[in-house]
Amino acid sequence: MSETLSAPAAAKLGVRIHGTTQLIGVIGWPVGHSLSPSMHNAALEHLGLDWCYVPLPVRPEHLPEAVAGLRALGFRGINATVPHKLALLDLMDELTPAARAIGAVNTVMVQPDGLLGHNTDADGFIRDLRDGGYDPARRRALVLGAGGSARAVVYALASVGAEVTIVNRTAEKAERLAADMAAGTGGRVQANSFSRDALAELVAAAQLVVNTTPVGMWPLIDESPWPEEVPFPGQALVYDLIYNPRLTRLLRWAKQCGARARDGLGMLVQQGAASLELWTGRTPPVAVMRAAGEAALARP
Ligand code: ATR
Repeated sequence: MSETLSAPAAAKLGVRIHGTTQLIGVIGWPVGHSLSPSMHNAALEHLGLDWCYVPLPVRPEHLPEAVAGLRALGFRGINATVPHKLALLDLMDELTPAARAIGAVNTVMVQPDGLLGHNTDADGFIRDLRDGGYDPARRRALVLGAGGSARAVVYALASVGAEVTIVNRTAEKAERLAADMAAGTGGRVQANSFSRDALAELVAAAQLVVNTTPVGMWPLIDESPWPEEVPFPGQALVYDLIYNPRLTRLLRWAKQCGARARDGLGMLVQQGAASLELWTGRTPPVAVMRAAGEAALARP
């Protein structure tokens, strides 16, 4: 029995993989929830490229083998998501200054002479702020959280000349991150306490507030990292890295206080767009990627 699909059946299934198709993808564990395959394949199709972006579920213990096989299998590059971004650092032949300073790799370029580890999260964050008409240079930014996502955000803000204050549930982590990023960027980064009084004082001066914690993410959508007795001033932009749901409790509160609110889908789209540009050398169709991301998010 033939295993070949008829042309109409293949078109119906959206199959556009041929003998010449170039491969890129995303490694994660799990990876089934990732919006990246939808965003990237929409962009590749729009650009008319004979490339395909595939999900690669890789268990943490198999990461070295999976990465070692990328070149042998002819992959052009990959994205990495939870939990692989940190572990990839040690598996690269070369790192960009951003990946080294952030301490995480989210984009790998497979080159003839080895694997180059990039981090496009920081770039994606700044691109999305600017896309929203906000220039973070010389602004006072307050970052909530001191985990992996905070590292990219603080690096990005400090690199473009914002003045950054980090507050975190575990104060020592905020202090360590502030010291690391001040040294890594030469920028102005400090840590402060996550108490109500400190927040009330800090927010009065803050022009940008960024939530990098997972608090408020589905399914715990009624939670917020921000104490609601501390209002946001109207001049602030409140940015939540969470995009599921798009309107978190934090962003609802920000809007009620008259502040501007921006969700994390734009950063996800822009970090992907930056990766695609690195791999293909083509200008990424950001609007197409955003629409595909929104459609994938809306699917049950
Ligand atoms: P990611 O890589 O997504 O940033 P992470 O490295 O686990 O995830 O970091 C999550 C951050 O959110 C941490 O700074 C964490 O605070 P701690 O350093 O004290 O663990 C913060 N966080 C997570 N849950 C939180 C909660 N319920 N309240 C306040 N902060 C929280």
